[in-house]
Amino acid sequence: MTVELVGTVRSTLKQSDHPYIGGAWQPTYNEWNAIFANGDERVIGTIPDDIDGVYVRTGENQIHEPIGRYHPFDGDGFIHAMSFKDGRASYRSRFVRTKGFQAEQEAGRSLWAGLMEPPHKSTRPGWGAQEWLKDSSSTDVCIHAGQILSSFYQCGEGYRLDPFTLEQDGTEGWVPLDGISAHCKVDESTGELLFFNYSKHAPYMHYGVVGPDNKLKHYVPIPLKGPRLPHDMAFTKNYTILNDLPLYWDPGLLENGLHAVQFYPDQKSRFAIIPRYGQPEDILWFEAEPCYVLHWLNAWEEGDEIILDGYFQEEPMPKSYEGAPKGFERMMAYLDQQLLKPKLHRWRFNLKTGETTEERLRDEIIEFGMFNQKYAGRKYRYAYSAIPEPGWFLFRGLVKHDLDTGIDERIEFGPGRYASESPFAPRINAKDEDDGYLVSFVADVNTDQSECVLIDAKNIAAGPVCRIILPERICSGTHSTWANGDDIGMPSNNILAG
Ligand SMILES: [Fe+2]
Repeated sequence: MTVELVGTVRSTLKQSDHPYIGGAWQPTYNEWNAIFANGDERVIGTIPDDIDGVYVRTGENQIHEPIGRYHPFDGDGFIHAMSFKDGRASYRSRFVRTKGFQAEQEAGRSLWAGLMEPPHKSTRPGWGAQEWLKDSSSTDVCIHAGQILSSFYQCGEGYRLDPFTLEQDGTEGWVPLDGISAHCKVDESTGELLFFNYSKHAPYMHYGVVGPDNKLKHYVPIPLKGPRLPHDMAFTKNYTILNDLPLYWDPGLLENGLHAVQFYPDQKSRFAIIPRYGQPEDILWFEAEPCYVLHWLNAWEEGDEIILDGYFQEEPMPKSYEGAPKGFERMMAYLDQQLLKPKLHRWRFNLKTGETTEERLRDEIIEFGMFNQKYAGRKYRYAYSAIPEPGWFLFRGLVKHDLDTGIDERIEFGPGRYASESPFAPRINAKDEDDGYLVSFVADVNTDQSECVLIDAKNIAAGPVCRIILPERICSGTHSTWANGDDIGMPSNNILAG
């Protein structure tokens, strides 16, 4: 085992009673390299030798004292990665060296105000759909063309990092002026990356495809009626699914520069289904019940239908979270899945008739779904959702869904122990869809430690088969990904070891 402190980023953040600058969301500033093998004191159980690849998780880890009120989605992007090969594991953690990160390191303070403050409080123009926020590149990660692509939910420039060393290569060259949203999708079967962006100017949304050679192949407008706030997209083998949902900035207030999100329950949800390389005139529009969906799960084609699974929020505009500390009631309400009530839902779009039918798949409040990426865009059987901690943007457990039988299986990590988004890592030479592991970073606020866990996806209730204690507890975060070593050129074991 080796544990090396690579460096410590300069912070000016003061301790406070802010609920998302403490507990499992307490930021950290050290960047580490560590290597683990079976028998090490930090390895509990056995690192299996039948997975090969890398788990990458990003998150919002605030560095400087904020300008005004802090929202956890303002935090600076901090990536944690654990690679596995031949029964060994290698951990690295690095802040994303965004332009905003560098400018604020030089200034020694925050230069941009966050989501909860008016734009004029930022000291210089920013990025994204709101135009005055810092592009923290903190929301999501995917691995495409052998590199991590780090993204920001308000549409940022996209940053590239090596998935094993986390060495950084700045912004991605093909990203359009309107940026890219979080939740780009990689189709493992073709190596293509699909993305979208949104903005305050017509046509308000674009969609694009990047080839396995990391060259932009396709970029078309998706004309909407006004500025919208889509967060995620979905795809099938032949189609891409974009959304225009009735939750967006109040148009009247927006004219006065105020970004006030409003849900319009009298307006339908709209879905744009476009062939992967389709033009705007090829879009088929479908209507559905009004809702907001933060994350889709998977989609596929079956006969005349396109079937889409996602998490239907029953209460997209919760009033307030009464258990919150004074002054944080509204912010915490929008972060509390128990109040938003997302439930696993299925939409069926009939390409022949233009009709939509809908069905609730589960009544439990769950979100942040994962599944075997070999089945992305294809019919699948197994999905894995996160179980939220009531009141918090934290995950207390995971539930595995057998979508064929309707049977669920679950694991909960215990009081004060919170998982990250937990992707599926297939076993080498996997025999079937759920032959592999769920991978997660679990933060334990009781012991002030974090660990990487591997859970047998065929028996998640049995608990982790392996726990690797990280050099220090890490801040909770948002999204993650898994990539197979074979698909992205995993380095040889001696590189992993050194
Ligand atoms: Fe997201």
